[in-house]
Amino acid sequence: MTVKSFRVVLFVWIVLLLGSSVGLAQRPRPLPLPEPQTDGGKPLMQALKERKSSRAFSGEKLSTQTLSNMLWAAFGVNRPDSGKRTAPSAVNWREIDIYVAMEEGLFLYDAEAHTLVPVVAQDLRALTGVQPFVKDAPVNLVYVGDFSKVEEVSDEDRIFFCAADAGFIGQNVYLFCASEGLATVVRAMIKKPELAKAMNLRPDQEIVLAQTVGYPRK
Ligand SMILES: Cc1cc2nc3c(=O)[nH]c(=O)nc-3n(C[C@H](O)[C@H](O)[C@H](O)COP(=O)(O)O)c2cc1C
Repeated sequence: MTVKSFRVVLFVWIVLLLGSSVGLAQRPRPLPLPEPQTDGGKPLMQALKERKSSRAFSGEKLSTQTLSNMLWAAFGVNRPDSGKRTAPSAVNWREIDIYVAMEEGLFLYDAEAHTLVPVVAQDLRALTGVQPFVKDAPVNLVYVGDFSKVEEVSDEDRIFFCAADAGFIGQNVYLFCASEGLATVVRAMIKKPELAKAMNLRPDQEIVLAQTVGYPRK
């Protein structure tokens, strides 16, 4: 190897090393979730009586156990033999991904592994809506339709199926929150273009709804 080619190889190696360490620094750490507690909670009829939208949140964080239980209730796997979920989805496409925006960063809920996968290391809560409470509440769920999973339907139907399927997930979260004494509100008012960019979404991913969750402000 000549001195010149050695310098080139060294330069490329340093660039790659710097690039990968910058990338690592920008990624939040994976957040392992404990096993969801799938028994207990209020009886269904009582949870329905208490279901409501609330827009006053305290800054108190959710424990990882509560996060785990909520995500399982939202769209977790409730029949491991088939991988089917706590909410229905058209054609069993399971095309709605739940992103979780917290102070620590943005995570993607992997229902099969029941884990939070890091996506972006920044706090994107403020971008998830136009209402002032979104930036202070501990959790904002963002329901994203993966159009690549919704095959052979018109654009109109694709949007319809994603909206319907996200709605079922949102109601699961409402009922979980009613059962646990948590405050929540599902939201369509979202800064979609800015948020999609910050979340690094692909063109075939569409933000459908967001849902803020936290403890009620006293
Ligand atoms: C599709 C949809 C979009 C909504 N978007 C917002 C929103 O952007 N901001 C908000 O504060 N509430 C939003 N809501 C909550 C409604 O305002 C709320 O459900 C309604 O006022 C009835 O109140 P309740 O949920 O307590 O019964 C939305 C609800 C739905 C179903």
